[in-house]
Amino acid sequence: MIQETCQVTGTELVTEETFVVSFESKRIAETIQPGQFVNVRSWFGSDPLLRRPFSVYTVDRDRFVSILFNVVGKGTRILGGLRKGDLIDVIGPLGTPFNLNLNGMKTAVLVGGGLGVAPLPVLTSRLKEKNVRVHTYLGARSKSQLIPSFLENLSVATDDGSSGFHGTVVDLLERELPELDQTPVALFGCGPNPMLRGLSALASKKGIACQISLEGPMGCGFGICQGCPVRLSTGAEEYVLMCREGPVFDSTLIEV
Ligand SMILES: Cc1cc2nc3c(=O)[nH]c(=O)nc-3n(C[C@H](O)[C@H](O)[C@H](O)COP(=O)(O)OP(=O)(O)OC[C@H]3O[C@@H](n4cnc5c(N)ncnc54)[C@H](O)[C@@H]3O)c2cc1C
Ligand code: FES
Repeated sequence: MIQETCQVTGTELVTEETFVVSFESKRIAETIQPGQFVNVRSWFGSDPLLRRPFSVYTVDRDRFVSILFNVVGKGTRILGGLRKGDLIDVIGPLGTPFNLNLNGMKTAVLVGGGLGVAPLPVLTSRLKEKNVRVHTYLGARSKSQLIPSFLENLSVATDDGSSGFHGTVVDLLERELPELDQTPVALFGCGPNPMLRGLSALASKKGIACQISLEGPMGCGFGICQGCPVRLSTGAEEYVLMCREGPVFDSTLIEV
């Protein structure tokens, strides 16, 4: 884990509401693993008090890293106002990444809902390096919210039917899964909790390995504040920390 001050190298509006902010960090670019996150602040003082966690969206030439976000509150509003040359304070890489060493995995199915697309480009490139075939299912409210860059073999679903399948991305995946299921398949999901619940249920119905990445509220980001409990699916009152044991979990082990 590294804390450093990084220079913003570019900002871009990739949809009407979604920003990509790139910054230079050779050390994070060289060490980040898919599913890990960075905890970021670009403000001084105590308002907002906490850093904000983001998946790493892209890594470029082992030197540049980007994050992807919508403005939803104070922290993202400040980050959305960043300009090239500004400085941000970044801690990372944080958290437990996706496990890419699954026995016999030949095909990976990546499922992203909304801004849950964020960790998928890095995951895609690492899976391809391991010669794993990648199919991606992307869901959004409507066409204008889809962010399809850096993804492989893409199928899309929109809630309003403005692009691709009319319905949820998990419903689309369930329809197409039989065609993908000829080789050992593993599912990798990131998105809102209802989507992750649906994906976990589909995986357990079909007996397919599934890892999901959570994006719930967080504090410190590295196991100190106890502010990110995730309940285990043991039936007992047992919890792990999202920032440390997660944000990626085997879908059978936790309650979403
Ligand atoms: C591991 C991890 C990775 C993440 N990756 C991304 C990413 O790549 N792109 C991205 O856009 N967001 C991501 N998030 C969520 C992001 O951190 C929050 O949206 C952000 O902290 C909001 O900060 P804010 O100050 O703008 O909003 P706040 O003022 O803190 O909150 C604004 C509103 O959003 C709600 N909210 C805040 N945080 C979350 C959250 N984590 N989940 C759901 N609702 C929340 C609040 O309840 C409130 O209603 C990630 C979160 C985690 C834990
Ligand atoms: S965010 Fe502080 S312990 Fe997880």
